[in-house]
Amino acid sequence: MREKIYYITTPIYYANAPLHIGHAYSTVAADTAKRWQALKGRETFMLTGMDEHGEKIYRSAEKSGVKPEEWVDRGAAAAKELWSFMNISYDGFVRTTDNFHKKAVEEVFKKLLAQGDIYSADYQGPYCVSCETFFTEQQVKDANGNCPDCGKKINEIKAESALFFRLSSYGEKLLNFYKANPDFLKPSELANKTIDTVTRGLKDLCVTREKVTWGISVPGDPSKTIYVWFDALVNYLSGAGFPHDMERFGKLWPADCHIVGKEIYYFHTVIFPALLMALDLPLPKKVYGHGWWTLKNDKMSKSTGNIVTPYEVCKHFEPDILRFFFLREMPFGADGAFSIDRIEERYAADLANPLGNLFKRTEVMLSKYFGGKTPSDGSFDAEIFKKQTEALQKFSSFMDELQFHSALNALWELVDAANRFIEEKKPWVLFKEKSPRLNDVMLTLEGCLEFITGILSPFMPVKCAEMASHIAAEIKLPEPGAFRKGQVIPGGEILFPALDIIRSGETQNSD
Ligand code: MSP
Repeated sequence: MREKIYYITTPIYYANAPLHIGHAYSTVAADTAKRWQALKGRETFMLTGMDEHGEKIYRSAEKSGVKPEEWVDRGAAAAKELWSFMNISYDGFVRTTDNFHKKAVEEVFKKLLAQGDIYSADYQGPYCVSCETFFTEQQVKDANGNCPDCGKKINEIKAESALFFRLSSYGEKLLNFYKANPDFLKPSELANKTIDTVTRGLKDLCVTREKVTWGISVPGDPSKTIYVWFDALVNYLSGAGFPHDMERFGKLWPADCHIVGKEIYYFHTVIFPALLMALDLPLPKKVYGHGWWTLKNDKMSKSTGNIVTPYEVCKHFEPDILRFFFLREMPFGADGAFSIDRIEERYAADLANPLGNLFKRTEVMLSKYFGGKTPSDGSFDAEIFKKQTEALQKFSSFMDELQFHSALNALWELVDAANRFIEEKKPWVLFKEKSPRLNDVMLTLEGCLEFITGILSPFMPVKCAEMASHIAAEIKLPEPGAFRKGQVIPGGEILFPALDIIRSGETQNSD
């Protein structure tokens, strides 16, 4: 039987302000995970999109003097432009204003209403527009009268005959599911919080808003719109074909992984699974909550205005360098401080020096000793074969667990070993001595370049294509010990120029 299509998603982003490093981080992570699965030969599907309804978006459009339709069109166009800039290869893009999505939300809503999972009652309680979240009086009291998530001033809302989803009746089932599926809540630090929250007991969730016109109307009651999170979560279904293309949906669902920031983990690990249970649909295999990029010790966030965009960073670096930095700098799940200085340090320590030099030295030596070809005879070094085998095995299992940072550590053990191999074997001495061992050394080194280029490609797809062209290789999942005899090595421009060279280029360009 064919393996199910690997289906991975990002959050759908609010269309109320420019997307920044934080949003790019989630999207790059999903894209890298997808590319890794594809490299292994699996069919893949990555979904992203825009969350376009609700009071927050409506207000920001109003403030800018633009109709909400036009406002969200601009947001979606800007997101697509950013994803193309960041070399993201998504397969589906849902906008919650898309008709097919609206229909899916209506269908889900009607079904839950008909089966009694949604019921009517009065609502009064605190609501944060910035987070589009309902809170309890106690949560707000504990946060000194402010929003427990973003700290902003919070308002009380009141609605007669609002509609509620019976979230409270799914607590037990959710706990059983978490227990039976230990891979679902990742990483484990976040899992415990979710389990605690559900164990303490869930309250039913208000799923309608009054007086918020920019949204999907409640079927049969146009005076209300559907709560924006209910609307948004359904994107993972509608984007996979539910219910308009059930054949495609059957090939994609359940999702293999939802990647989300930790602040929206609850929505994805409690509310969404409960909705799926109510719909009698299988639950996703994994929800991975990652940490935050901070700036001056605060979460980078458009609502507080302390943001950096990928465009600003990429004035100095190619987008692939930023992609690499995102996943190399901190474990996926932890928080990290964002700064250009740190990118520069990483660039020098991981790319320009060990990797860039490995390419350059190997290319120069092949050109000098063999006229720009790999030797026509020789064998692969046994020690390096062992190192490649280890690197591939560790890299693969870390990547399957979305431990990008550890996967790169494992790969860099090989990069370092290859550089040490040059120092130890001293090919320049072997050349002088006309030693036949020079062939083995050079074939092994070229094999390492090919190995690294293939395996690194999910992280830096464009840069690795450039690396591949240097050695006239194909990008593929590497095999330990593989090498090519008599292969022309064209070389090319320096792959990772030193920072002072990049800077002097910038000065020249700006003159
Ligand atoms: N629209 C909701 C998500 C609905 S999903 C069904 C939303 N949108 S958002 O525009 O606010 O994007 C939030 C997501 O962006 C986070 O979950 C995270 O993936 C990413 N990030 C935003 N700021 C971030 C950081 N400072 N650091 C890392 N990622 C963060 O919430």
